[in-house]
Amino acid sequence: MWKATVRLRLRLVLVVALAVLEGGRCEGEECWKRRIHIRKLPAMFNLDLLVNCSEYPMLEDLCPYMGNHGLGQKTHNRSHSWYRTDPWMLELIFHRRMLEYPCLTQDPSEADAIYLPYYAGLDALRYLYGPLANSSAQHGLHLFHFLQHDNPQIFQRRMSHDHFLVMARPAWDFSQPLSNDPPIWGTSFLELPHFFNVTALTLESRAWPWQDHAVPYPTSFHPPNLPLLDSWLTRARRSNRPVLALFAGGGGVSSSPNIRRSIRNECDNASSSSDSSYHTLCQIVDCSNGICEHDPIRFMRPMLQATFCLQPPGNTPTRRSTFDAILAGCIPVFFEDLSAKLQYPWHLPQPDFEDFSVFIPKEEVVFRGLRILDVLQRIPRAKVRTMRERVLDLIPAVLYRKHSASPGLRAKKDAFDLAIDGVLAKIRSRLHDLDMPATVV
Ligand SMILES: *[C@@H]1O[C@H](CO)[C@@H](O)[C@H](O)[C@H]1NC(C)=O
Ligand SMILES: *[C@@H]1O[C@H](CO)[C@@H](O)[C@H](O)[C@H]1NC(C)=O
Ligand SMILES: *[C@@H]1O[C@H](CO)[C@@H](O)[C@H](O)[C@H]1NC(C)=O
Ligand SMILES: *[C@@H]1O[C@H](CO)[C@@H](O)[C@H](O)[C@H]1NC(C)=O
Ligand SMILES: *[C@@H]1O[C@H](CO)[C@@H](O)[C@H](O)[C@H]1NC(C)=O
Repeated sequence: MWKATVRLRLRLVLVVALAVLEGGRCEGEECWKRRIHIRKLPAMFNLDLLVNCSEYPMLEDLCPYMGNHGLGQKTHNRSHSWYRTDPWMLELIFHRRMLEYPCLTQDPSEADAIYLPYYAGLDALRYLYGPLANSSAQHGLHLFHFLQHDNPQIFQRRMSHDHFLVMARPAWDFSQPLSNDPPIWGTSFLELPHFFNVTALTLESRAWPWQDHAVPYPTSFHPPNLPLLDSWLTRARRSNRPVLALFAGGGGVSSSPNIRRSIRNECDNASSSSDSSYHTLCQIVDCSNGICEHDPIRFMRPMLQATFCLQPPGNTPTRRSTFDAILAGCIPVFFEDLSAKLQYPWHLPQPDFEDFSVFIPKEEVVFRGLRILDVLQRIPRAKVRTMRERVLDLIPAVLYRKHSASPGLRAKKDAFDLAIDGVLAKIRSRLHDLDMPATVV
């Protein structure tokens, strides 16, 4: 029965947080053009989706990952910053952070943007894996119905161009063409004309996105104050890195040529090589069958000891591991631009992309025999050091700090803050292009 207790507690904690924090606290110049209204949605769109967390079809028990407002359980009892975070829980993490956003307004007509606290990815599980797999074109219609009937002027005032929500999965999972019957994979939320004007924050955007915009995958590190962040930065900066290249992941075991298989082959052969200033040229942390997903120690320790972290595409181009690597000060190596360069402009500055990452086209590796380890070994040591400094500089901007963090830490923009800046700028420019009035107050 402990599960029922956990559920109840979860629910209560969220409700209490809502009651305490959702006040009009919109003050001063810092809030100019930054006011956000949190739309009140019936519990079926968020809290109810947490209640049956152990009963989602085809998935393990999700309840433990919903604890601590979506950060998950601590990795161990005395940990202050490290959690067993599941990236799909970004909807909860984001909602909790939204409640302490300093420029909330209770009056939607005063707002520059409207946040829909709908846990779209959790709700999508019924369609992706469950009994509604053949009705995936319906995903979102009940929300649309609600927005059309409850104070419809809020949704309609700017033709919903000022609305946004979080969908904590790759946009691909919500982009099933409405004409696919039966559907192949995914819901059609982003294909519905109903939500065409609403901005969706996803973990990966499409190649030519309109509504969707990618934000970093949550890692397991959520510091509550500045000293804990600083001590981590010091540790990552001082860490010895005797390993040239690390791949933490699974796949690459099938016989068909692909980048993960090339990495495995190259890595297996390289371990015996010794004519290098690195102790180990290549290391693989086997994360097959999801064994690393909620166990950050498995990959964070090796990443701290590695100079480069390989980020090959898998089922989709992006990986959570990209952000784990940055956190460890391990320089990411990408094999296609869709893995990060074309994804996260709010968080990873595009013009300087080559200052903190390496790009090796996957076709060159898979089909033309280019050796990854050769490319990496040719990068001069001094260049490696400056790249690593740039990676370390990125850390504060890609992590999601803990809710209710200390004022010192709040003064640094984290992944959430930058996402909000990005959303507000996007909405502002959209309204400007459409020649729609911005807020007058
Ligand atoms: C939760 O599960 C119970 C039993 O399986 C079901 O009756 C109930 O409708 C579910 N609630 C939600 C919100 O899905
Ligand atoms: C962690 O804390 C919980 C509850 O506070 C306790 O039951 C458990 O034994 C602790 N675990 C360890 C390894 O200390
Ligand atoms: C969906 O439709 C296909 C083909 O029409 C059928 O084989 C499958 O069982 C259906 N799935 C569900 C979950 O109803
Ligand atoms: C989306 O915006 C366009 C104008 O840019 C408008 O024609 C359309 O009706 C809007 N859609 C919805 C669902 O409000
Ligand atoms: C590397 O290993 C693969 C299989 O693991 C093998 O087919 C290949 O010949 C090896 N290459 C070299 C250069 O040893």
